Amino acid sequence: MNTKNLVFAAAAVLSLSGTANAAGNPAVKNMMEKSDCFTCHALDHKLVGPSYQEVAARYHGNKASAATVTMLAEKILKGGNGNWNQETGGMPMTPHPQLTVAQAKAMVKWVLAQ
Ligand code: HEC
Repeated sequence: MNTKNLVFAAAAVLSLSGTANAAGNPAVKNMMEKSDCFTCHALDHKLVGPSYQEVAARYHGNKASAATVTMLAEKILKGGNGNWNQETGGMPMTPHPQLTVAQAKAMVKWVLAQ
């Protein structure tokens, strides 16, 4: 995606005040970079956790239900393992109590858009 499209996508997401998916939203990616998400996750290959593309594929990307988005946001907030044990050998994700539910959901939507 070129810069013009990125700016357009970000503007489109902002104008829908967070109800639409956050595809490529640079503000959300920036928030994830400031947190520790990219320490354990990469876009297209497993690190400690599954790649963002694997997560998006498993949960049907932008077509994921609201319940799935809520479940994944809870997982980010509270941490835990179980859904990816075959890929990770049972490593848990650390909890992120410093994030709000809205921030965690925005991150989930960013991940699902990959
Ligand atoms: C300490 C390493 C670590 C950090 C830091 C981390 N994760 Fe994870 N993440 C994992 C592991 C391991 C899993 C697999 C958990 C499982 O098996 O259910 C995972 C799973 C996930 C999933 C899929 C959850 C599921 O149940 O399918 C999402 C989405 C996710 N992480 C997003 C994030 C975001 C966003 C951040 C930053 C706020 C983050 N992760 C930070 C290790 C990490």
